Amino acid sequence: MRMILVGPPGAGKGTQAARLVHSLGIPHISSGDMLRAAVKEGTEMGLQADGFMKAGKLVPDDVVIGMILDRIARPDAAGGFMLDGFPRTIPQAAALSDAMTSAGYALDRVLLIEVPDELIIERGVGRRNDPVTGRIYHVTFDPPPAEIADRLVHRKDDTAAAITERLGYYHAWTAPIVPIYDAQGLLRRVDGVGTPAQVTARITAALGA
Ligand code: AP5
Repeated sequence: MRMILVGPPGAGKGTQAARLVHSLGIPHISSGDMLRAAVKEGTEMGLQADGFMKAGKLVPDDVVIGMILDRIARPDAAGGFMLDGFPRTIPQAAALSDAMTSAGYALDRVLLIEVPDELIIERGVGRRNDPVTGRIYHVTFDPPPAEIADRLVHRKDDTAAAITERLGYYHAWTAPIVPIYDAQGLLRRVDGVGTPAQVTARITAALGA
């Protein structure tokens, strides 16, 4: 299965990917996670990306495209992958399509997780990430155990201002890729409102359809 998760910031892409990839037997490839790792390691790419990410802006296409195309060419992605956060612009979608055509394979599914804008800021500002396990929590909707509270990370771009900026970029730059995949018959829309388990059940049904 070669698939893409699309959705606004905080729609639950990372949460759902973590619940799904083991049963699907494919790697979860998150452009945001890869960029955050590059920032932490202080690589040249990380230094380029850092300012854009803190401000909630998109990292330039040429930086992100090379990073993801290299990643999906690795052996563990030969049998499939779940892309999360990429593509995010029409040029990124075109680069992915060209690379996949050259490699002789095609996308199977694009899942759009739909969450209304008014819920997005609440989800983002309450998010906490566990750097040890990678688990995503929410202070209200999915509270972390008290014994790990001290080690949890609040992302620098999870302020109300940065989330608002990211939402604006989503509508301006990412939403336009949705009709392209819809026209190709690849798109499935999933309601992202409800418990994570309810959303997983909808995604599983959509993948089977
Ligand atoms: P990225 O990390 O991709 O951020 P994002 O798309 O904004 O998505 P998020 O990680 O914020 O949210 P999510 O949908 O994964 O939600 P989550 O499951 O965590 O990108 C970050 C930055 O990197 C970008 O702004 C940009 O600068 C750069 N970047 C990345 N890719 C790029 C690209 N391709 N091109 C250019 N730049 C790029 O859930 C959120 C919260 O909600 C959590 O607290 C969770 O517990 C909670 N939650 C989840 N599901 C539910 C539910 N069903 N009910 C209640 N709460 C829920």
